[in-house]
Formats: sequence, C-alpha cells, structure tokens
Amino acid sequence: MNTPSGTANSGAAGDIRRIEVALRDHGYAVHIGPGARRLLPSVVRDLGARRVVVVTALPDADLPDPGVPCHVVRARDGERDKTLATVEEYCRAFVRFGLTRSDAVVAVGGGTVTDTVGLAAALYHRGVPVIHVPTTLLAQVDASVGGKTAVNLPEGKNLVGTYWQPAAVLCDTDHLATLSPRDMLSGYGEIARCAFIGAGDLRGLPLHEQIAAGVALKAAVVARDERDQGLRHILNYGHTLGHAIERATDYAWRHGEAVAAGTVFAGRLAGALGRVDDRRVAEHQEIVAHFGLPTWLPSGVCAQTLVSLMRRDKKGLDTADGALTFVLDGPDGAELVHSVPESVVRSALAAMPTGPEPTAGARPDPA
Ligand code: GLY
Repeated sequence: MNTPSGTANSGAAGDIRRIEVALRDHGYAVHIGPGARRLLPSVVRDLGARRVVVVTALPDADLPDPGVPCHVVRARDGERDKTLATVEEYCRAFVRFGLTRSDAVVAVGGGTVTDTVGLAAALYHRGVPVIHVPTTLLAQVDASVGGKTAVNLPEGKNLVGTYWQPAAVLCDTDHLATLSPRDMLSGYGEIARCAFIGAGDLRGLPLHEQIAAGVALKAAVVARDERDQGLRHILNYGHTLGHAIERATDYAWRHGEAVAAGTVFAGRLAGALGRVDDRRVAEHQEIVAHFGLPTWLPSGVCAQTLVSLMRRDKKGLDTADGALTFVLDGPDGAELVHSVPESVVRSALAAMPTGPEPTAGARPDPA
C-alpha cells in the first residue's frame, strides 16, 4: 500500500498554517501556529453558533474568548476520566445550560479531553458542532484531528466511540510553552512514528513544522479513508503494542511514550518477518531515541501480559487462527499485516530491552 506524503492543501496566513481536512460535506480547517486560539470568534461566527459551552481543565484565564455568550464546564484531563460516566456528566451540563443544535461545544485541552468532549458532542441531541482547541503536543499532532472520538472501558482503551468530525481545530503552539517535559515527550511519540507512515524524517525541523507535517499527513489519510476501512490503519503505527504498554503500566507510561516503544517494536517485528532490512530496523530505534523517547519495554511486565492485552485491543484484532495483526513497514510502505504468528511476536518482545518509566534522560536497564 503506498502511503501519502502530506498531500493536504496547506498555506500560510501570517505565522499560522492552515491545513484542510478535505471531506466531502464535513471538511474543516486545522490552524497551526502561535495565537491560533484567537481565531475562535471567527470560527464560531462562521458556524452561526449563538452560544457555546467550553469544556476544559484549564483555568479561566487561559481560555480563548469565543465571542458569544459562553458557559464553562470543568473537565478532568487524563485516561482515567475518559469514561462513559464523564460523557454523561458533560451531556447533563449541556442540558442544564440549555445547549441546542444551533449552538456549539468547544473542547480546550489534551487528547483525553478532545476525545471525550468529541463523543459527548456527537451524542448530545444526536450531534452538535464541536471545535477543538488542543493544548498538548499529542492532541495537536494527532488526537484532535480526524474525527475519532472514544472513551475507555475497564477492559480496554477507546472501546466505545464514534466518528464526529470537528468544525475546526485550532492548534495554538503558544500552549506548548506551558507543558511539562513528560507531556512534550508524549507528543513527540506521535511525531516520531510519522517517519514510517509517509511524512519522511522530521528530525531537525522546527516544532511547528513537525506538527504541520504530522497534521498534513493525517489530513491526507483521513480524506481518503475517514472510517478506517483500510489506509487509515497506518496511523495506528506502533499503537498495538503501545496501547498494551499503557494498560500494563496502568497508564503510568503516557500514550506517546508507549507508542514510541511500540514503533521500535514494529520495526523489529517487520525485520523479523523479512519485510524490511536491518538498516530500516535501526532507523526505527534511532528516530525514536532522537526524540528522547523510550526504545524499551517496561520492566516487570511479562510478554504474556502484553500479548493478551494486544489481543484484546481493537488494533490487535483477534483472528480466527490465533495470530495477531499489526501495522508494519514493508517494501510498499506501512500496511496492515494479518496473521503474524504469536511465536514471532514473542521472540521480538523477548529481544527488546526493558527499562524504567520514561522521564527526560531515562535509559534502558543494563543487559
Ligand atoms: N489516531 C489514529 C487515527 O486517528 O486514526
């Protein structure tokens, strides 16, 4: 399967890049750059929304002015609150405010907020417009773009959700200055994996260019396969193991950190299956390491646990013969590979070093 190379329309307006997600009747723009949140009043005006509910964990002082009467609903960021109970809480707050389909919801926060608020917006009154203002690197590069909304169940991540495209996404890079090193590290995980799904090597580019490249790649993929029927699977590069690591560590490893380790593993697995050569396997390791991300598995988690969790993850996709499914690099680029024998998966897991929870400067355990 050929991979796209950021073919979405993009253009500069001042310091703010505009990238179109070209969907037939519900396309929208992603605006990336310093101060992008100040575009909110014009986005709200263009939508014709009379009032908005802003859902956020940020203090009021950090919230963008929507330019219309607004009610703020307090959110909790983080995987543990990405639940159906939180969706119900938001919807009940919408009812109390009297939100109608002529109004809009604005999600200001990280990926767990945009995922959960997006699902609430999709369900409330069978769908109200939502504008995403992602404030973390991870949400700007990936989570807020493409219309996937979901919450977790105790049994696994993102198991209940729907597609609900936002009306616009405002990626204000000024927000990133306030992020913790762990938050930045997690975002770099989604940037690192872009090298293997069509964006090329983004090392050395300014951060806003890395974000724009990741968004342009995603926009091009989503425009061709909104509903994950084929091509969109490539965006899950590194995610099958990544989700298992998040669950195995009770989310102590952040999403992007776990995806980074999953990306190194995907390279090794592709090598073990003869799909890529040693140089390409090494490139996975080098690119992930370049961003200071973990190239190891969490110590104290056995391969059996990871395999079981991968089977349960919808990205691991159980197959009748008991084999697993991964997105893997190969001669034609990344593609979904079915029927990967469990024995090969276990060998590749066993060959990975183990190490501590990621922090800036963390290193794998000595062999
Ligand atoms: N984050 C993967 C996707 O949006 O398809």
